[in-house]
Amino acid sequence: MERLQKIIAESGYTSRRKAEELIRTGHVKVNGVTVSELGTKVSVNDMIEIDGEILTKEEQKVYYLLYKPRGVVTTTSDDKHRKTVVDLIDTNIRIYPVGRLDYDTTGILLLTNDGIFANAMMHPKNKIDKRYIAKVNGFISKDQLLKLQQGVLIDGKMTAKSQVRIKRYDKKTNTSIVELVIHEGRNHQVKKMFETIGLTVLKLKREQISFLNLSGLKSGEYRMLNPKEIKKLYNEANL
Ligand code: URA
Repeated sequence: MERLQKIIAESGYTSRRKAEELIRTGHVKVNGVTVSELGTKVSVNDMIEIDGEILTKEEQKVYYLLYKPRGVVTTTSDDKHRKTVVDLIDTNIRIYPVGRLDYDTTGILLLTNDGIFANAMMHPKNKIDKRYIAKVNGFISKDQLLKLQQGVLIDGKMTAKSQVRIKRYDKKTNTSIVELVIHEGRNHQVKKMFETIGLTVLKLKREQISFLNLSGLKSGEYRMLNPKEIKKLYNEANL
């Protein structure tokens, strides 16, 4: 026997907090009877309905879009006890990040329990575009820009062609703001790309993955993807 809100949350239907709210506000029935008391114990064999919809017992796939803040690690657990991206999401489902952003990188990150989806999104052959904004030290010449666009050698392998655009150069601080769209997701790829032209990334933010962006979210906030978005991403990832 388990608490009703736990079973609902573990089905992937919603978070534990939202499940509690649904119970309290009379949206949940167990074996046809409305149950509004939190902590009611049910077994997996009981029929649970939410607004008339029967909760399925198999684990549902969930997809989250997180605005990752700086100072959080992109793993499910950290041996140095640092905060992880999974800690930021209120769920009892075992989710994991799709790819990774560095500790000091901010921006859009997907998390899911759908392994097939995660692999397809990360595989370079599926060419899922990721758009980054980087602040780098120094001025970027036409030649250097062309190099980045055409591909540079990192870890013994050339990067694929990418879109790179200089948005601004600030003479006072001698820094440039650069937009990059890449579809590979190699380790520290953006930082290493700039290293090859002798520049250091001072700040890095991922603003977009495919058609998804951070609109409506503040740093540290997240939302679930809606079914339309999931379908579209499945298509983009050739699934
Ligand atoms: N490239 C990097 O160097 N770091 C990131 O976090 C993402 C892409």
